[in-house]
Amino acid sequence: MSDTVPGHSGPVSDRLNVVVGVTGGIAAYKAVGVIRALVLAGHDVHVVATDAALRFVGRPTLEAISRNTVHTDLYEGVAEVRHVAIGQAADLIVVAPATANTIAKLAAGLADDLLGNTILASTAPVVIAPAMHTEMWRNPATVANIAILKSRGVTVIGPASGQLTGTDSGQGRLVEPDEIVAGALAVLRPRDLAGRSILVTAGGTREPLDPVRFIGNRSSGRQGLAIAIAAAARGAAVTLIGANLEIAVPHGITVLHVSSTLELQDAVALAAPSADIVVMAAAVADYRPETVADTKIKKETQGDRLTLQLVKNPDILAGLSATRTAGQVIVGFAAETEADPQKLLDLGSAKIARKGSDYLVVNTVGWTEGFATETNTVVMLDKAGVIVMEATGTKSSVAGRILDVLA
Ligand code: CTP
Repeated sequence: MSDTVPGHSGPVSDRLNVVVGVTGGIAAYKAVGVIRALVLAGHDVHVVATDAALRFVGRPTLEAISRNTVHTDLYEGVAEVRHVAIGQAADLIVVAPATANTIAKLAAGLADDLLGNTILASTAPVVIAPAMHTEMWRNPATVANIAILKSRGVTVIGPASGQLTGTDSGQGRLVEPDEIVAGALAVLRPRDLAGRSILVTAGGTREPLDPVRFIGNRSSGRQGLAIAIAAAARGAAVTLIGANLEIAVPHGITVLHVSSTLELQDAVALAAPSADIVVMAAAVADYRPETVADTKIKKETQGDRLTLQLVKNPDILAGLSATRTAGQVIVGFAAETEADPQKLLDLGSAKIARKGSDYLVVNTVGWTEGFATETNTVVMLDKAGVIVMEATGTKSSVAGRILDVLA
């Protein structure tokens, strides 16, 4: 187990020993995503699967993704007292999916399988992500079991509402893997943003040309959304303004959707004054077509060449920095295609001086990097252009590091 800081129950080391309990429901295939996100975030992941779980997802898959042996059997590894050793070594236990049956067993404190023993033998925080049909979730037995687990300090993430396994839909869907991981890791973190309000912009603006076309960019909104999720998990009141987000926003995060830069500017102007921190992660179009055609632009009228007249958009970040309220912290992002690390830093220093923000998070983007990917590499600069943080990892782990600086 990692060392702990006196007065704080969370481990010091960034690399956590995480036990992922996988139980037997159809959503078990999504446990693979949970395990992968934890491994990519640098954690040592040990899977304890129930026999039923292995009917839904294969042991080789779980072993390949977790990079560790998968444990199932209570009577294996007896010489090393495995039924308690796994739980004793854990910094965090995440059960995803947690079936109604497993939830009932945990509430009763049963230890008839390896997962039950592991959890009983552990003092680590336990996080469960239930998945079942709506009727089972609402059954008084499950409701009572969940109440018992919560009263013992177990963190329950979800379930979400949506399409279930059959043709039915309702509450009972397993929450998406990234959200489970962010929520689970947040349990070990102090709620150091409680009482703070944070405005995050994410995605990429689109500038209309005509009713069917726009000029846009390849930002998916993943990094901004990861910041919003992580900030909410750390206790902040989060406002997310999403420009053409290409990914689903998890329940619990309220999003205001915009499309063009001018719409983003209006939404930011309304939300920014009450925010303690503003993070401009959105990729904003610098120019927009001077005129927007009312009808579709036609080849017949344009001929072989089409010239677009563009006008400069307002710089929202520079405007925010110039009008910031007392004590407000403004964070900009800079997506650059510069490959040389020193030149990238020089660009970042010049950009933060131009924009006037408190911090600038610089990352390299290209055809295969940065945009629409699961991972990111960033350097965070302060006003003076000094590096205050460098991180590589999943967008959610990078989000955590950015918030560490801000908190
Ligand atoms: N930004 C903004 N308004 C704009 C352009 C950019 O608020 N019109 C913000 C972005 O949200 C980001 C930061 O400014 O936080 C840097 O964006 P970037 O596109 O890298 O910078 P630009 O000023 O557009 O400079 P460049 O010429 O490198 O594109």
